[in-house]
Amino acid sequence: MSSGPELRTGRLLLRRWRNADRDAFADLNADSEVMEHFPEPLPRDESDALVDRIEDSFEQRGYGFWAVELVDSLEFIGFTGLGLAEFEAHFTPAVEVGWRLKRSAWGHGYATEGARAAMTYGFEGVGVRQIVAYTPTNNLRSRAVMERLGMSHDPADDFDHSRLPPGHPLRRSVLYRISWDRWRASTFGR
Ligand SMILES: CC(C)(COP(=O)(O)OP(=O)(O)OC[C@H]1O[C@@H](n2cnc3c(N)ncnc32)[C@H](O)[C@@H]1OP(=O)(O)O)[C@@H](O)C(=O)NCCC(=O)NCCS
Repeated sequence: MSSGPELRTGRLLLRRWRNADRDAFADLNADSEVMEHFPEPLPRDESDALVDRIEDSFEQRGYGFWAVELVDSLEFIGFTGLGLAEFEAHFTPAVEVGWRLKRSAWGHGYATEGARAAMTYGFEGVGVRQIVAYTPTNNLRSRAVMERLGMSHDPADDFDHSRLPPGHPLRRSVLYRISWDRWRASTFGR
């Protein structure tokens, strides 16, 4: 199986991870604003372990969360891409799209631009029929990306994340979905 291509957009290169990305990735994972909607910021060893798991995903499945680099400056700004959601939920297993960018890279449209390329690859390169995205209910920035990508939210799909304990403030989550047919019919898929 292919271990996944590089993807290029107007302003971004989505590429496999390099060891040189690990310092900057650890910095963004330690930033409490970036990690506001996660249980806690990640210490260095967990940040590195996440890179290792992402690289394993590329090797095993041919897709994963690509490292995102700005074409003009070559700066590493975070990740976007595809993952396999396998935790216990009514919609899993499912291919998900996700994103995490350093704070200084917010507000430029990079997450939407990169996710669009990743989703096109998922539908056309991998042959996925549906892509989902999920986030804690109050992560409005992430939900806005999902909406910009043409994904739809049915409140009947809302769920309690099984990896968080009952009563945890991040447990209640929203699910967004888009099918290949709907993607093809949208501006993004054309
Ligand atoms: C979620 C996250 C990736 C969203 O980043 P973002 O920059 O808000 O999203 P986009 O890339 O779609 O950018 C959209 C913004 O860029 C602006 N923008 C500026 N130039 C733009 C351009 N050329 N094209 C498109 N949008 C542009 C848009 O107007 C919009 O601004 P707004 O937020 O004021 O409405 C970011 O907040 C993040 O990394 N959060 C932490 C990690 C996280 O929560 N991940 C999700 C877990 S489920």
